[in-house]
Amino acid sequence: MSTELVALEHTLVAEITTAADLKALEEVRISALGKKGRVPELMAQLGKLPPEEKKAFGQAVNGLRDRVTTSLETRKTALSAGALLEKLKAERVDVTLPVRAGGGHDGRIHPVSQVWDEVIEIFADMGFSIAEGPDIETDDLNFTKLNIPEEHPARQEHDTFYMRSQPGSTDAPLVLRTHTSPVQIRTMLAQKPPIRIIAPGRVYRLDSDATHTPMFHQIEGLVIDKATHLGHLKWTLTEFAKAFFEVDDVKMRFRASHFPFTEPSMEVDIGAEAIGKPGKWLEILGSGMVHPNVIRNCGLDPDVYQGFAFGMGIDRIAMLKYGIPDLRAMFAGDLRWLWHYGFSALDMPSLAGGLSS
Ligand code: PHE
Repeated sequence: MSTELVALEHTLVAEITTAADLKALEEVRISALGKKGRVPELMAQLGKLPPEEKKAFGQAVNGLRDRVTTSLETRKTALSAGALLEKLKAERVDVTLPVRAGGGHDGRIHPVSQVWDEVIEIFADMGFSIAEGPDIETDDLNFTKLNIPEEHPARQEHDTFYMRSQPGSTDAPLVLRTHTSPVQIRTMLAQKPPIRIIAPGRVYRLDSDATHTPMFHQIEGLVIDKATHLGHLKWTLTEFAKAFFEVDDVKMRFRASHFPFTEPSMEVDIGAEAIGKPGKWLEILGSGMVHPNVIRNCGLDPDVYQGFAFGMGIDRIAMLKYGIPDLRAMFAGDLRWLWHYGFSALDMPSLAGGLSS
């Protein structure tokens, strides 16, 4: 290789290794390999050489170009890593610093979370404890044990998301729970009466329009004891509605209905004057006396134990109480919406301090 080539390679490698940042390195690359760069310029001399020297010269320049390309890449990787480190250092956040004054006002609690806490507060005060179940549920707990056997029409009404435990598995399919009622079963299988629980959670149905979203929230209630009757159910729900809507009296209507897991069953409407719309009724929940089959399915004797259950849409009562018009907006993650409808992070609902002050 000619001394001229060796000298150029040294110069270029030196420039590359001393390039201080990615911008400087790019300038070196252009001046070395760019259209009018030093390496292509050298290649242009090829035409003037005697034929017997052409091949060796061409190979030498190609070799030089490859080595320069490699060192450019190596340097680029090193500089990029360094640049990332610099960036991380510059953007470092000290999480141990004390909270800035006013920080508590910067976040917002979602109305669903707020109402979830309000409902828990009310039922906790009445002596209910909280139970939970998984979002991915077995078909048996979501349906069969709740007195909804296979082929029962109620299964269609639920627009269920089915899933296999693994691709190709032939096990009974799992479901995204269509309601919080399987937590009734889980609770009765796990503990002996007297039972007094509420179970808030996410539920899923294949449904989407202005008043339905594929995921929404429910709160289940279950009371099982030896002498629990319909009067207890009515009292509990009436007390709940008064506390929740923060009024002394709420007009309530218990409408005969049907659920496979309760008998008798009732849907409950509230007089909408509670939310400033006199003359209108709004449905807020389904309820009833737990069906003897359900009690039996959980290994309890329905001649000894009885009780009531209810299931309420959390999103729905949040919309009613706080005048939120569109259900879908609840889950759109729009910060402007959250600023408008959200709650102060430090304002925890309590019966003594006011649920929604
Ligand atoms: N699980 C019912 C539903 O989602 C509501 C319900 C719960 C009704 C408990 C009665 C008793 O529609």
